[in-house]
Amino acid sequence: MARTHIIGTGSYAPAQVLTNQDLERLVDTSDAWIRERTGIQERRQAAPDEATSDLAVQASRHALEMAGVAPGDLDLIVVGTVTADMPMPSCAALVQAKLGAKRAFAFDVSAACAGGLYALSVADQFVRTGQVKRALVVGADLLTRAVDWTDRNTCVLFGDGAGALVLGAEPDAEDDAMAPRGILSTHLRTDGELANLLCIPAGGSRTPVTADNVDANLHKLKMNGKEVFRFAVRALVESTQASLGVHGMDTTQVDHVIAHQANLRILEAVMERLEIPKEKCWLNLHKYGNTSSASLPMSLDEAQRAGRLKRGDVIAMMAIGAGMAWGSAVVRW
Ligand code: ACO
Repeated sequence: MARTHIIGTGSYAPAQVLTNQDLERLVDTSDAWIRERTGIQERRQAAPDEATSDLAVQASRHALEMAGVAPGDLDLIVVGTVTADMPMPSCAALVQAKLGAKRAFAFDVSAACAGGLYALSVADQFVRTGQVKRALVVGADLLTRAVDWTDRNTCVLFGDGAGALVLGAEPDAEDDAMAPRGILSTHLRTDGELANLLCIPAGGSRTPVTADNVDANLHKLKMNGKEVFRFAVRALVESTQASLGVHGMDTTQVDHVIAHQANLRILEAVMERLEIPKEKCWLNLHKYGNTSSASLPMSLDEAQRAGRLKRGDVIAMMAIGAGMAWGSAVVRW
């Protein structure tokens, strides 16, 4: 059976750097508090004339170049985002047009910080069944546009970015018979009863953006950080154990963890509970903060370009975000 392989990776972060010291001038916080509680040192902020599709296109071009795939050869584009350029059309449609990927059908997936993983899982199904040959998966978000810059509980956490992956169907090679390569499986979960833990209340059909709602800051991100933290650790551990279990693997067989970058303490707690040495977890949140759906594909791209991923390595991927929506994937590189 053909299996989905990740044949190209790319990422893009806007040039503007916002340091913890910059945030000290905005809210009552300190570099020491942010580093100690989150591991974040700085994040990127999109320029006023940049929108999500602009970042997505830059990351996509890098991924297409690595894969040696022309935009015109793409059959599918899936963008994970909660900060599309506009409510409609989809960010994916705008990316398709900018890339000139004329043959590709394109749509967005909304799973907040799990958006990159959800988009990967959706695209994998199309490739696996043979319906498409080449797919582009993007995670891109500009959460700096959605945060309340007067709320120290949230504004220190997020940054802007985009990550992209090109997927292709490849038949198993002969030497892969015992250990097939590619995306082995994805495992997605949602608990909508936890929707209030992390949300942007206004701007949808329930609560429109009116002057009163804007005055009340309802168009900005709200979060119960403590509960999200607690839930995230448990959910990521359980999901990863379940994913590996499907393949008869345990965590000793994991060579790399590519995880959504929300908080260093979340990742350390997850690695400890999974009994995976923390050096195996790729980290970039110190320089980008939480880039939402972008963080997982950006991390994979960085690890790949740093030469860390070797043929046959087992990668455990994991992500969680508003919904709550979370999941994991097992990939043999
Ligand atoms: N600077 C200084 N003090 C702060 C700041 C800040 N930026 N933010 C909060 N505080 C204060 C609080 O007001 C509180 O003060 P109080 O005790 O006087 O009331 C104190 O610090 C402790 O606050 P806690 O909420 O207990 O701090 P905690 O150690 O839980 O860290 C944090 C807060 C960093 C938000 C943490 O809960 C967290 O990371 N949660 C996960 C949230 C997350 O990652 N969300 C991203 C989206 S979902 C996802 O990606 C998984």
